[in-house]
Amino acid sequence: MDVEMNTEIIRININSINNCKEETDKLKHAAEVIKKGGLVAFPTETVYGLGANALDAGAVKKIFEAKGRPSDNPLIVHIADISSLGKLIAEMPGFAHKLIDEFWPGPLTLIFKKSGIIPYEITAGLDTVAIRMPAHPVALALIKEAEVPIAAPSANSSGKPSPTLAEHVIEDLMGKIDMIIDGGATNVGVESTVLDITSNPPIILRPGGITFEQLREVLGNVELDPSLKINDKLQANQTQDKSKKIIPRSPGMKYRHYSPKASLIIVEGDTSQVIKHINEMANDYRSKSIKVGILATDQTKSYYTDAKDVVVISMGDRNHPDTIASSLFNCFREFDHMNVQVILAEAIDKTGIGLAVMNRMNKAAGYNIIKV
Ligand code: TXA
Ligand code: MG
Repeated sequence: MDVEMNTEIIRININSINNCKEETDKLKHAAEVIKKGGLVAFPTETVYGLGANALDAGAVKKIFEAKGRPSDNPLIVHIADISSLGKLIAEMPGFAHKLIDEFWPGPLTLIFKKSGIIPYEITAGLDTVAIRMPAHPVALALIKEAEVPIAAPSANSSGKPSPTLAEHVIEDLMGKIDMIIDGGATNVGVESTVLDITSNPPIILRPGGITFEQLREVLGNVELDPSLKINDKLQANQTQDKSKKIIPRSPGMKYRHYSPKASLIIVEGDTSQVIKHINEMANDYRSKSIKVGILATDQTKSYYTDAKDVVVISMGDRNHPDTIASSLFNCFREFDHMNVQVILAEAIDKTGIGLAVMNRMNKAAGYNIIKV
């Protein structure tokens, strides 16, 4: 898509969405764009999505072009009520009912066997389809008004951090899509959990807003996709030594995702050791005139020296990983705005939503992890 198009930006006040004609009219206008096969970015409770009519293969193709997304990466279909689920899927596994009752609307994407009306453009040729019902008034109202399911990946350029503010979408997709609905900051901040319920027990393919612990409580038995565990260990070992002294070159694109422009290095271990190591590394980079960003937490921020060419940002409260989830991607983009070249990030515990936070951080770092 070389020719820039006119991207309309509309602001919606989510508090008056159901009782104010002006806001309803804006949504109707956005829904018209979807119905005509256009692309509309909209807020969900996790991150902003880039929506198109899921039943229109031509519209879906435009999503891949606008994002520069590889065509072998399938999209999530968003629905606003349970009655629209049946015609999209071929089979309803027993535990789906429990999961839907408990977690929809919300940040849980379920993988089903697809029905015939789902175009293969959405599923990247697979016979399964990812479906979720978002818990955001704008997303739900848009889907209802459009009267079609909406296919939507995160509304970032492929490879960049997912957008948690309309400004992030503007940064990445202005001139490439028809419309951006600005509904303010998203809440959860990392994407939905992707759960494959075509196998028994179900398998978490991507950790996200609904935690492993929450799923285990409802299902009894749930597994983590082996790639989520193996990659951590393997890549950590491989990068341990060389990353101490040199700026890592951008690792295999296959692994790097959700990434800021700066190289990201994660330091993991006992907190006092982590602080010590990050301070040493920061000094080393400064002496080489390399601008450093330190991604700290509320508890540790004051232990780093905020100096010329060292930018310290807290991603949130270690004891409340949800605060970290909601700010992580914005922190990455903040460092980019300040032209930081290397980001040194503290790891956090992988419990609760911390598992999703560390998954995104590891991918953004290309698994460049230092254990101290
Ligand atoms: O929170 C979210 O899920 C956001 C908001 C906008 O809803 N969407 C989002 O979409 O994160 P995206 O496209 O960035 O990520 C979709 C993920 C990808 O990892 C994709 O590979 C996986 O879901 N996925 C989609 N369909 C699948 C399928 N049939 N089988 C396995 N994985 C699938
Ligand atoms: Mg994405």
